[in-house]
Amino acid sequence: MSFRLLVFLCLVIVARCGNTLSIERRSNHFVKLPVVHSTNRQVFAKVYQDKRAIATVPLAKRADVAYYAKLNIGTPPQPVFVQLDTGSFELWVNPNCTTLRGSSDVRFCEAIGHYDPSSSSSSIELTTTKTLRYGIGSATVQYVVDSVGLAGTDTLLQEVQFGVALDTVDEFSGILGIGHGENLTIRYKNLIDQLADQGATSTKAFSLALGSKSEQEGVIIFGGLDTSKFSGTLQTQPIIPARDSPDGVPRYWINMQSLSITPPSGETKRYPNTSMAVFLDSGATLTLLPTRLANAIAADFGAEATDSNGFYPVDCKFNDQPGTLDFAFVGVIIRVPYREVVREIQTTFGIQCYLGISPSEDFVLLGDTMLRSAYAVFDQTNNAIHIAQYSNCGSNEKEITAKMTLGSTKGDCEAPDFEAGNANSDPLSLDNGTGVGSNDSTDADSSASTFDILGPYQRLTIWATLFGDQDDYSSPYMSTAHANDRQTRAI
Ligand SMILES: *[C@@H]1O[C@H](CO)[C@@H](O)[C@H](O)[C@H]1NC(C)=O
Ligand SMILES: *[C@@H]1O[C@H](CO)[C@@H](O)[C@H](O)[C@H]1NC(C)=O
Ligand SMILES: *[C@@H]1O[C@H](CO)[C@@H](O)[C@H](O)[C@H]1NC(C)=O
Ligand SMILES: *[C@@H]1O[C@H](CO)[C@@H](O)[C@H](O)[C@H]1NC(C)=O
Ligand SMILES: *[C@@H]1O[C@H](CO)[C@@H](O)[C@H](O)[C@H]1NC(C)=O
Repeated sequence: MSFRLLVFLCLVIVARCGNTLSIERRSNHFVKLPVVHSTNRQVFAKVYQDKRAIATVPLAKRADVAYYAKLNIGTPPQPVFVQLDTGSFELWVNPNCTTLRGSSDVRFCEAIGHYDPSSSSSSIELTTTKTLRYGIGSATVQYVVDSVGLAGTDTLLQEVQFGVALDTVDEFSGILGIGHGENLTIRYKNLIDQLADQGATSTKAFSLALGSKSEQEGVIIFGGLDTSKFSGTLQTQPIIPARDSPDGVPRYWINMQSLSITPPSGETKRYPNTSMAVFLDSGATLTLLPTRLANAIAADFGAEATDSNGFYPVDCKFNDQPGTLDFAFVGVIIRVPYREVVREIQTTFGIQCYLGISPSEDFVLLGDTMLRSAYAVFDQTNNAIHIAQYSNCGSNEKEITAKMTLGSTKGDCEAPDFEAGNANSDPLSLDNGTGVGSNDSTDADSSASTFDILGPYQRLTIWATLFGDQDDYSSPYMSTAHANDRQTRAI
């Protein structure tokens, strides 16, 4: 008995030693995480034991909502999915699901996981609270310090500060803000800071491939990049310094040179006056452009005006046409196929299509409807975004080192075939009553108004607040005028 126990203990010790050694010997300082689309039935079904609960989440209604990463928080680890957001700066978990109106939102919210600090032996609850305001919704959080593991990797960060929601409004998941962190937007180290600080990455840069609508999965690599996820050569776009940016906040603002459309006829048309600062926001479903420009693009998709929800309804036939919207930056044009910019939404009246672009006089941003056609390295260390055309030809991952000139890194892939149209149709639009989503049509939501179903799709996390609270960090660039301005802009 005692001998067996001894052997067992030895095995445990050996296993632990081996593990520690493998971490220490690891030569690559990068961490790869899958980016899970909220529509990915396999992933969300596998992760949770309660198959029935998942089966009733009408994911088909969430055609292109948001992109998630899985974290393991605390000791023992508690798995939680959080929305990846380049537009904000902080991590928080535990939305209040009971405040949501749509039953599908409630179920999704309940399925993404919950963190209980009192069940974690490594948690430290702080007394500080803060209200984070987003373009849509808000979260009042209390800060906690605990270990955070990146699911599926051996990276376990110690003593990471993040928020645990006390209450939320219109939020159906926690958010992982991967914008600039300590000393720029907040007073403590955010996840990007901690990854570099604790040696998991050797640079404050990460690469993001959201994945196409039909792929249902993308990849984020902290401290690394995957040359088999783009064609052409990465082109360096300097991040506009906060003081020169449209809102005075340190964000991923870069200059767009022009915007054009290449319809199936092949004749490219350039929209006038489209050289402007744009902000890359993975936390926004839609791309927001100045009204005159959004209207001009919508007109080319046959939409004369926005509907009462502020969306341009378009014919679903555009999903099958081989046209592109072409976003030009220094040295590179990112071509966004029609099928990626057209959103298909299941409503009570069947599938309806909308342009993934909305008019905005306040803020110009490239959201998921544009970003999933780009491969982008967000490089805080060099204050630059390095971008190329997204194309998926396998995986070839590399660490980003200080010596590396990212701006000339070649991709392994061929450019996508933009003439092909929609050969692989979005499986979501084909769901005709098979698979886990089969009960969608009998879902309680089918009696909800179109607005209820549409509402949550427009994720906007751009206005994560930097102002107003005692514990906020005030950067010298930020004036009170900006703060007030932003308050009134909240939608
Ligand atoms: C969640 O929201 C409901 C409805 O507004 C409220 O009654 C409840 O107190 C909230 N729960 C928490 C933990 O804040
Ligand atoms: C923020 O500034 C403090 C004081 O200068 C410094 O010790 C710390 O390393 C800085 N943090 C980051 C993430 O640069
Ligand atoms: C483009 O900008 C120029 C100069 O600012 C202006 O004269 C012109 O009307 C603008 N065109 C459009 C279509 O907005
Ligand atoms: C519709 O469902 C049937 C089985 O019920 C299947 O054979 C068929 O391929 C489906 N059609 C599409 C377009 O998915
Ligand atoms: C659909 O839902 C009903 C009622 O909840 C249930 O009885 C039925 O088995 C479900 N069908 C499928 C295919 O899951």
